[in-house]
This record gives sequence, C-alpha cells and structure tokens, in this order.
Amino acid sequence: MGEKGLIAKITGPLVVADKMRGCEMYEVIKVGEEGLLGETIRLDGDSAYVQVYEDTTGLKPGEPVIRTKAPLSVELGPGILKNFYDGVQRPLKAIKEKVGDYVERGVSVDALDRAKKWKFTQVPTAEEGKEIVGGVILGEVQESKVITHKILVPPGVHGKLLELKEGDFTVQDTIARVQTEGEDVELKLMQKWPVRKGRPYKEKLDPEVPLLTGQRINDTFFPIAKGGTGAIPGGFGTGKTVMQHQLARWADSQVIVYIGCGERGNEMTEVLEDFPKLIDPYSGETLMERSTLIANTSNMPVAAREASIYTGITLAEYYRDMGYDAAIQADSTSRWAEALREISGRLEEMPGEEGYPAYLATRLADFYERAGRVKTLCPDSEERIGSVTVVGAVSPPGGDFSEPVTQNTLRVVGDFWALDSSLADRRHFPAISWLRSYSLYLGGLREWFAKSAAPDFTEQREKMMGLLQKEAELQEIVQLVGADALPPRERGTLEVARMIREDFLQQNAYHEIDSFCSLEKQYLMAKIVLQWYDGAMDAVEAGIRVEKLEGMRIKDAIARMKYVPNEDFREKYEQIMKDMKDEFEAIKVKLKAG
Ligand SMILES: Nc1ncnc2c1ncn2[C@@H]1O[C@H](COP(=O)(O)OP(=O)(O)OP(=O)(O)O)[C@@H](O)[C@H]1O
Ligand SMILES: [Mg+2]
Repeated sequence: MGEKGLIAKITGPLVVADKMRGCEMYEVIKVGEEGLLGETIRLDGDSAYVQVYEDTTGLKPGEPVIRTKAPLSVELGPGILKNFYDGVQRPLKAIKEKVGDYVERGVSVDALDRAKKWKFTQVPTAEEGKEIVGGVILGEVQESKVITHKILVPPGVHGKLLELKEGDFTVQDTIARVQTEGEDVELKLMQKWPVRKGRPYKEKLDPEVPLLTGQRINDTFFPIAKGGTGAIPGGFGTGKTVMQHQLARWADSQVIVYIGCGERGNEMTEVLEDFPKLIDPYSGETLMERSTLIANTSNMPVAAREASIYTGITLAEYYRDMGYDAAIQADSTSRWAEALREISGRLEEMPGEEGYPAYLATRLADFYERAGRVKTLCPDSEERIGSVTVVGAVSPPGGDFSEPVTQNTLRVVGDFWALDSSLADRRHFPAISWLRSYSLYLGGLREWFAKSAAPDFTEQREKMMGLLQKEAELQEIVQLVGADALPPRERGTLEVARMIREDFLQQNAYHEIDSFCSLEKQYLMAKIVLQWYDGAMDAVEAGIRVEKLEGMRIKDAIARMKYVPNEDFREKYEQIMKDMKDEFEAIKVKLKAG
C-alpha cells in the first residue's frame, strides 16, 4: 500500500491522482512538489480525486502526491481567540511573516503558536489518582482578557489520572498522563479534532433560552434560541453583512467565530480592521478578546470555502464543550454552495437544480445540525451546558428566494430573517421583512420571555404583528381608493403600523445608542406604541377625528424614544405614558367643550 501517488490530471481546484489505492475519503493529501494542501473527495479504483485548498496554477501531471493518513483536522487549544485564520486554520499573521502579503502556497504554519507559554492552573475537578473521562476539565488557562480556556480531557479518553502538572507550558508540553486500558496517554494543552465530524456531547436540549441580540426585530419579532440556527437571505446590498456584525457585536454569546466565506476581500478586510477596534459591550475590552476570525475571501481558492465552514463550526463546538455559548456568523453560505457546485461539475457528477449537486441539501442540513444547546461531555456528577448558535448569510442571485441554496437553507433553519430589497431601497434598516420572516422558536421561548422579560412580552409581539398584517391588507384598499376613504379605525391602524415600522422596527446600526436595545427597552417601547393605539381607538370611538390623532404632539417623543439610553429608558417611559394620557384627555375635553 503506497503512500505516494502521482498527479494524473488537474482541473482547477480538483486534482486526480493515480496509484492511490488504500487512500481514505476525506484524507489530507499533500499535492505536488510544493505540497499543496488537499482532501480526497472521491475514490475510484487506483485514483483519488483531491480538492485542493490552495491555488493549483502551475501544477503538472507526474508531480508527486503524498498521503498523510489523517483527516482534515483543527488544533484546539489556547490561542484560537484573537486569531485570524485562513480556511484551513493557518494564522494569517504567521503566514504574512513567513511569506509576505498574500497567502503563499504550500506554506505550513501551525494553527497554534508552538513557542508561546501559557500559565496552566489546576481546578478541583481533576486530581491525581482520580478516574477521568472525556470532557473533564483538567485545568484552566487565561486565554484572553475575558475568556478562561478550560483544558478538557479529549473525547474518548478515559482512565486513571496518573499525573497532573501546573505551571507554564507550550501547547505541546505534556501536562497530564492518563492510565487507560491500552497505553498510557499524555495530554497537552492542545488537542486535535477532524473538522467534518461533530464533537460529541451528552444530550441536546430544547431551545428554551433566547440568544439576545439587542436588535428589536430579532429579539421581539423573530427571536433565535441559544443553540438555534438562523439564515439571513438577501439580495445585493440589503444588509447581510451589517446584520452579521451586529449579531457578533451585541448578541449575548461569549465566543464568536466569524467566517468570511467567499465574500469580497475588502469586506473581510473591514472585519479584520473593525473587530480589533470594536468595544465589546459586555466586557469593555475589544471584541477580539472573545472572537476568532476565519477569512476565505473571493480571491482565495474556492475549495477552501468548505474547509472554512467546517473549521469554524469545530472551533465553536470546542468552546461549547467548555460550557460557553458560542455563535458562528458565516458570510456567505451561498459562496460555499457555489464552491460545491464548481467541484461537483469538475467531478462530472449528475447536476441537480441549477447545477448544484444533489447532496447540497444534506450538506447544508448536516452543517446546521451541528448547532445546539447541549449538556456537554463531563462526569455524571456534574452538569455543564454550552451552545453553538449558527447564523448563515445567504446571497441569492437577484434576491430571488426560490433558488436552491435559499430553499434548502429555509428547510433546516429555525429563523428566517428575510431581507427585502424594497425596504433597503427605502432605507428601512434592518431590511428584514416582517411579512416573509419567521422564527420557529417563538413557542419554545414564550415561557422564558414571560418569566424573564414580562408576562405579556409575547402577547405584545403578537399584537404588533397582527397590526402589521392588517396594514398589509389595508394597503391594497389604500392603493385603490386612497387612505382618506378608509373608516377612522382603519386609519388609526395604519398610523400605529407606521409607528411600529419606523419607531420600533427601524434600528440604526451606526447610532451610538440605537445600535443596541436592551430587552427591557424593547418591551417598554412596544408598550408605548400599543398604548397609543388603544388610546387612539378609544378616542375614535368617542367621535374624535383621526386628523386630531395624527397630529398629536406625543408622536414626536415616540419617534425619538429609540435614542434614549437603555439605562434611562424606564424613566422616559413613565414620562411618555403620562404625557400621552394627558394629551388624549385634553383632546376629549376639547371635543366635549366644542
Ligand atoms: N441596521 C442598519 N443600519 C443602518 N444602515 C444599514 C443597516 N443595515 C444595512 N445598512 C446599510 O446598507 C448597506 C449595505 O449593507 P451590507 O453591506 O451589510 O449589505 P450586504 O447584503 O452584505 O451586501 P453584499 O450583497 O454586497 O454583501 C450598509 O453599508 C449600510 O449603509
Ligand atoms: Mg455582505
């Protein structure tokens, strides 16, 4: 069984190698004289089809191909955070130091710094002589200013802890020895994991806790659960990237994995420049202290887009296993699907819809399936809960949601935040369509909101949603006969719907205060708008003309309420509610007098 084959054929990112009998699927292969990184994706007799994660220009038939006998894996250990990686977890900075400005081919750089020493301290869960299993926390390393990295016993290892050290170690130093049924195992600060395989856990939990985002349309209208999945489909320039940034910045996840997949290089450069400057609202430190970025931009090899997706989710699972809430932002999953289509075409597979491979649906489903809020591996005597929430942007050509990537994503995600070009054109941001979007988590989260936000939190949401739906129906009539022809109650409905859209749903990502809205503020803002509606309906009942209501002074305060700081909002709320009541009273008094 040879370990070395020969290149027979090269078509773009796909290389066919001969003399490869015995090779495994998804085995990492070093291709050509330069040892370009690739992975087998089809085996056929003696031939292996290898997708290459680096630029294949200049490769020639006859060059050697070397098997590594290992699947594509990531290195898991301290040093992941604050790092920028390419799709196969090579730190961009280290590559740059080695070869200059762009990613050279065949460069092998370690994902985790080999020289850096980390201070490792023990924790009471692990003691010499104790029986340990996968998931046990051996000790801790302060990885960044805000994240304590738990050093875990890798899944599958179990036995007696013979030795556990403390002190300053590199990721490769041995920190513990375990006596197992087979040979003794040495544990280090670092472990490896194959990216295509989900890391094991004990049990998946129901999505009952929201991932709060500080974005009103997300939290109040279409909430996502911790461990949930969401898609942001939208045409060109509708706000996908801004929304991904907002979620990365404001969501109450502790660890962020941001994957820039196949998008323009300058968009990713922005991320690379922004994140180290953005201040994390929860810690006051920069956002990088709890983030890791994976960049595989449009100018980088297409096959590596797939690797970047799997690398990202594996890193997130690892932090989940420590008991953290991790969140992935993938921008854009469409570029990954396009890479699958290109490779599938070169493999001459039977094309499915619009040329995408027939397995597109399962690939997407399997990826999103790795999300979840789980009981992590750990001894039965403890319980540790962590989560991976996955949000993927989808970029349908022409903004047409009937195309295969959007459709197949829609079938598997719990949240569908549909961006609408006409809203973006009207500068209604976030341009999430309230009529086309949905959240499957509403039911599961209802109780959490009732208990932790307010008893009528979801009820208010339903009321606002109902009013917006009513507005959509009325709009058809308005187009035929004009708003003036509507009965007063309906005109009141149109007015409150406008308030919901402009004063509640619109949220400016670039405004210092409006960018993040606490859940309490969201609730109180909704209460104010609905209170206005009730007041307006009463007034109409009492015979007050709609024009009077449309001209109310309180409307200015309502329009400006989003700019009131979260911490001052309750006071402002009391004030607005009182002024509103007084103004309605005054109108009624006037009516009686007149
Ligand atoms: N919440 C928001 N608040 C204010 N402006 C916004 C918001 N969301 C989007 N925008 C505006 O829309 C523009 C385009 O957004 P963005 O770059 O996120 O779109 P995109 O869908 O990622 O585009 P592309 O298809 O090019 O990747 C932004 O530059 C910004 O001006
Ligand atoms: Mg974008």
